[in-house]
Amino acid sequence: MYYTFPQALAGPQHDPEHRDALVRNDRAQMNTSRKRLPMDSVGVESVASRGLDSAFGRAPLVDPFGRNISYLRVSVTDRCDFRCVYCMSEHMAFLPKSDLLTLEELDRLCSAFVVRGVRKLRLTGGEPLVRRGIMTLFASLSRHLQSGQLDELTLTTNGSQLAKHAQEIAAHGVRRINVSLDTLDAEKFHTITRWGDLKNVLAGIDAAQSAGLKVKINTVALKGVNDDEFPRLIEWAHGGDMDITLIEVMPLGEVGEGRLDQYLPLSIVRARLAQRFSLDDLDYRTGGPARYVRVAETGGRLGFITPLTHNFCESCNRVRVTCTGTLYMCLGQEDAADLRKPLRASETDDPLHAAIDEAIVRKPKGHDFIIDRRHQRPALARHMSVTGG
Ligand SMILES: C[S@@+](CC[C@H](N)C(=O)[O-])C[C@H]1O[C@@H](n2cnc3c(N)ncnc32)[C@H](O)[C@@H]1O
Ligand code: SF4
Repeated sequence: MYYTFPQALAGPQHDPEHRDALVRNDRAQMNTSRKRLPMDSVGVESVASRGLDSAFGRAPLVDPFGRNISYLRVSVTDRCDFRCVYCMSEHMAFLPKSDLLTLEELDRLCSAFVVRGVRKLRLTGGEPLVRRGIMTLFASLSRHLQSGQLDELTLTTNGSQLAKHAQEIAAHGVRRINVSLDTLDAEKFHTITRWGDLKNVLAGIDAAQSAGLKVKINTVALKGVNDDEFPRLIEWAHGGDMDITLIEVMPLGEVGEGRLDQYLPLSIVRARLAQRFSLDDLDYRTGGPARYVRVAETGGRLGFITPLTHNFCESCNRVRVTCTGTLYMCLGQEDAADLRKPLRASETDDPLHAAIDEAIVRKPKGHDFIIDRRHQRPALARHMSVTGG
C-alpha cells in the first residue's frame, strides 16, 4: 500500500503538513514503480512503445484511436435519495454494500489513474453525497490537486445534500460542480424525481454558490414534461450566473416507462429556442460532449449534449469506473473490465495498471444508441446510476 488512507482522515482535514505527507508517499511509490513498468508485464506493445511521459514514469493512457484518456468519472455509489423517472425504476435493487469498493480502495483506484495522466476526476453516482464518509474521499483526493497532478476534482449531484456539504467540498479544492435540475416547478420536480424536494435542491445551489463553487445546471429534456420550461430554466440559470446544459435521454436500464415517450431530440429544442433567443455558436469546450452557444438575450452559456442526434465519440477522452471497481471504456457499450480483483490481489499497483492497460486497448470507437419505434427497449440493461452519466 503506497499511502495510508487513515492518515488522510486523521487530524484536521485541511492540514497542509498532512497533505504534504500523502504527496511524499505517492511520489516515493511512483519512483519505486519506475523500475516495474506495467507494460513489461502485459506486453501491450502499442502502449509501451508510446513512451513514458506521464508523471512519475507510468505510460499515459492512449486508446487505439489515439484518444488520450485524461478524464475519469467515478460512481461512488449506485444508491440515491431520488428515483428520477428516466434514470431508475421506482423499486430498484441496489448492490449489497459488501460488493462496493471501500473509500480507501476508491482513492487507490483514482490515484492509479492520476498517475497514468488523468487530469480531471469527477465523483458521481447514484447520488455521491449519500455515500457515508464521502467527504473523506474528497479530503484524500485533494492531495493530487495540491501536487499539481490533477487539474480538477469535481462532482455531479442532484443537490439534495449540498446545503450540508458545500463548504467542505469547496475547502477540499473543488471549484465547479454540476447540479441536475429538470424543472423549477415543485410539483413537477416531485413527479420527475419521485422522491425529491425542490426547495432542498435550490437551498443546496445557494449554499454551493455562497461557498464559492461555480455551478452548472444539467437538465434532461423530457418530451411533454419539461419542454415548455426551457426558456424559464435558461433565464433562471443565467440570471444566477450558472451555465445550463440540456441533455437527450439515453436508453440505459429498464425504468418502467417507454423511452419514446420521454425522448425529445435536442435538434427540435434548439430550433424552438432559436425562435425566442439569438443563439451564437461558441468554441468553448469543457472537454466533454456538450456543444455550447451564447444566448444573446441573457449573456449566458447554453450547452447541448446530443448522444442520439449527434454522436460525440470521436473526441471522447473519458472512462468510467463504478463503485464496484468495474471500468467501462464507453458509456454506451457493455464491454467492461474488473479492476477490483487486481486492486485486491496485491499491495502494489502493478496488477491494477496491467488490467487498466488491457482495458484501454479495448476502448471502442463509439456507442450505438438509437431510440425509435423499433428500439424502445433499453440499449443497455445497466442504469445510468451505475456509471454516473
Ligand atoms: C446518473 S446522475 C448521477 C449524479 C446525481 N445523482 C445527479 O443526478 O446529478 C448523472 C446525470 O445523468 C443524468 N441521467 C440519468 N439518467 C439519464 C438518462 N437515461 N439519459 C440521460 N441522462 C441521464 C442525470 O440527469 C444526471 O444529470
Ligand atoms: S439522475 Fe441522479 S438523482 Fe436522479 S435517480 Fe439518477 S442518480 Fe438519482
